[in-house]
Amino acid sequence: MLAINANRLNARLQAFAAIGGTTKGGVNRQALTEGDRRARRLLAELATARGFRVFQDPIANLFVWRNGRDETLPPLLIGSHLDSQPAGGRFDGALGTLSAFEVLESLEDAGTITDRSVVVVVWTNEEGCRFSPGCMGSMAFSEGAIPGLWQDKNATDGARFAEELSLTIQSLPEAAMVPLGFPVHAYLEVHIEQGPSLEAAGIPIGVVKGIQGTRWLDVTIKGQTAHAGTTGLSWRRDPLRALTSAFSNLYNTVMPGDPEARFTIGRISARPGSVNAIPEEVHCTIDIRHPDPGRLDEIEMFVRSQIGEEADTHGCRVQILCAFDMPACGFSEPLREVISHAASVCKVQSMPMLSGAFHDALFVNRIAPAGMIFVPCRDGLSHNEDEYVEQEHIVMGCEVLAQATLLAANCMDPFPDCTALHTIEPTF
Ligand code: GLV
Ligand code: MN
Ligand code: MN
Repeated sequence: MLAINANRLNARLQAFAAIGGTTKGGVNRQALTEGDRRARRLLAELATARGFRVFQDPIANLFVWRNGRDETLPPLLIGSHLDSQPAGGRFDGALGTLSAFEVLESLEDAGTITDRSVVVVVWTNEEGCRFSPGCMGSMAFSEGAIPGLWQDKNATDGARFAEELSLTIQSLPEAAMVPLGFPVHAYLEVHIEQGPSLEAAGIPIGVVKGIQGTRWLDVTIKGQTAHAGTTGLSWRRDPLRALTSAFSNLYNTVMPGDPEARFTIGRISARPGSVNAIPEEVHCTIDIRHPDPGRLDEIEMFVRSQIGEEADTHGCRVQILCAFDMPACGFSEPLREVISHAASVCKVQSMPMLSGAFHDALFVNRIAPAGMIFVPCRDGLSHNEDEYVEQEHIVMGCEVLAQATLLAANCMDPFPDCTALHTIEPTF
């Protein structure tokens, strides 16, 4: 058993929650902002003080490296993300990152040399709320390239992606540059569940068997701006009217008709945005999710047809772009067994479960077996400043990660059949 230092982990969670901390006790530390840079700098300082080597790659993924016995073997990656939602909680991402760093320090405290190197990774822009899409860091790492289209992206606050990325990389001059994507033995990530299942079951550890699919749509409807007082109904080409009629149908059918489906409109804006003018153009984002890839396609088609029909009815034009497509994935069976075994070594109950949220592990799973350890969060609440994890669950998650790290980092052979396993469609 590798003992972790719970007090140190708690102190770290508090210190990082203060970076971008909100008055309501949450965190606003969106990707590639000054807050994100401060959090990365703090981790790099802590790492350097412990004698670990720090690297970053061209998408600003940050790596804290602890050498193993044989440096020619692909390392075990453990980690998560440090960016947050605009009104996010203190545990989404930070828990996994700081638990991983705690495991690295605990290995150091114990003087334990693992066969493979163990590397803590902080993935860039997991959330995708400031710059879309989400999981930019892990996606680029798994593809070995940064998609050209990302360079011209603008943030919701007007900032340019290329500039913010470059400032973020420059803010850590001591972190030597490594190429994007390198061979990885396996990847482990602790995360809060972000839903109610573990709490309802009274079980502290979830062994994640897979992640459901996510698709993001960017919807723009164009009509004609005109005077609010003089323009009668038959003269109006009102894009907001078209959009809200479509919404009403979609809210009434997508989720009520399929308990596994998720449908969310999280952002909407109208131009010119004047109290006494019909909008010229409206824009909204739509987030749809489903574990079954076929159903995800069907829902997307239904959304497109409903919005298209309402746009026609109201004399408007519509453009719908797919901004993010994250097909469902199933995680490697042998790595799930490693996590379940680690939980039993720690004498904590665990259960297999599906993730409703997406995670960087989904992209890493395309190049190496990935596994996730979930812990419960109070009332299943996340993407909310009130997000909360019980102290005992923080400790259990980190302990399970520590034991799983020992098992995976001392496993000399590649995990068997992993390539075949992560091409299999998940059965949920
Ligand atoms: C991750 O933040 C998600 O939206 O699932
Ligand atoms: Mn997260
Ligand atoms: Mn999140």
